[in-house]
Amino acid sequence: MLIERSNFALADVISINDFSLSDMNFILSQASRLEAMRIEEKNALLSGKVVASLFFEPSTRTRLSFETAAQNLGAKVVGFSDANATSQKKGETLSDTIRMVEKYSDVIVMRHPLDGSARRAAEVSAKPVINAGDGSNQHPTQTLLDLYTMRREFGKIDGLKIGMLGDLKYGRTVHSLAVALSMFDNVELYFIAPEMLKMPGHIANAIKGRVKIRESAELHEFLPELDVLYATRIQKERFADPLEYERIKDVYILTKEILQRTKSRFRIMHPLPRINEISTEIDETDAALYFQQAANGIPVREAILNTLGNEK
Ligand code: CP
Repeated sequence: MLIERSNFALADVISINDFSLSDMNFILSQASRLEAMRIEEKNALLSGKVVASLFFEPSTRTRLSFETAAQNLGAKVVGFSDANATSQKKGETLSDTIRMVEKYSDVIVMRHPLDGSARRAAEVSAKPVINAGDGSNQHPTQTLLDLYTMRREFGKIDGLKIGMLGDLKYGRTVHSLAVALSMFDNVELYFIAPEMLKMPGHIANAIKGRVKIRESAELHEFLPELDVLYATRIQKERFADPLEYERIKDVYILTKEILQRTKSRFRIMHPLPRINEISTEIDETDAALYFQQAANGIPVREAILNTLGNEK
C-alpha cells in the first residue's frame, strides 16, 4: 500500500460525524498526493480489486467520479444505476443485496433514498461501505471534496466565513459540511434559508458550541462578510406537498449583481446539480468554483477508495 493509514481510523465512510479532524486531514492530504501522481503510477494501487457501485437513486457526479476514480486506481467496477433493473423490484431487501454484493467486491459504494441505509449496509457487510448519499441524511464524500476545494482555493479552511444558502432542511450536503467545518478553527457559519427550510435543530445544536453561527432568511445581510457562499438546490423530491415546493422554489436566485458587494476572493460553491439558483452568467466569473469543485471529486474519491480498498 502506498500510503500510511495510521491517521485514519475508519473502516467505512458512513457519516461525517464518525470522522475526527485527523481522519479528514488524512483524506485531504492523500487526495493532494493522488492529484499530483501520474495515472500509470496510480493504476497499480487497486489492481485486482473490484469496486461495487450501487446507485438506488439518480446521480451524475458522485457515481461517475467514483467509477472514474476506481478505474484510475486500476480497480474493476461492477454495479447499477437503476434500482428498477435489480432484484429489489422482486422484493429483495437491502440487507440481502448487500450480503451478495460483498461476496463480489472489495469495496461497496452506495447511494440510497432511505436515511440510515448506508449504516445498515455497513452492519451487514464485512467489506467497507462508502455512503454516496442516504436520503436527506448524509453525503460525507461530498463534504470531503468540499473541504478539499476550500483548502485548494484558499490554502486553508481555518478562519473562513462560509454562508450556506437555500434548502438547509433537506440538503444532506450542508448537513455533513456544517458538522465537518465545525471541527476547524475559527470558522464562522451563516445559515441563510427561509423559515421552512432552516438547518435542522439537531445539527445546529450539535455544533453551536464549536463554531459561531448566524442565521437569517436574508442573503444581503451577510454577503459582504463571506469568503464562500455554498448554494444548494431546493430538493423538490423531498417535499411531501408539491404546492409548497412551487411556492418556495425561486426563493434565492444568484445573479452577477451580487458580486458587486462581495470580497474580491469571494467564491460560490454548489454540490450540483443546479436548477436556477445560480444564474449561468456567473459561470464565467472568478467567483464560480462549482465546476472545479465537482472535478475535485476524482482525487478525493481516489483517496477514499485507496484508503478503504486496501484494508480488508
Ligand atoms: N453532488 C452530487 O451528489 O451530485 P450527483 O447527485 O449528480 O451525484
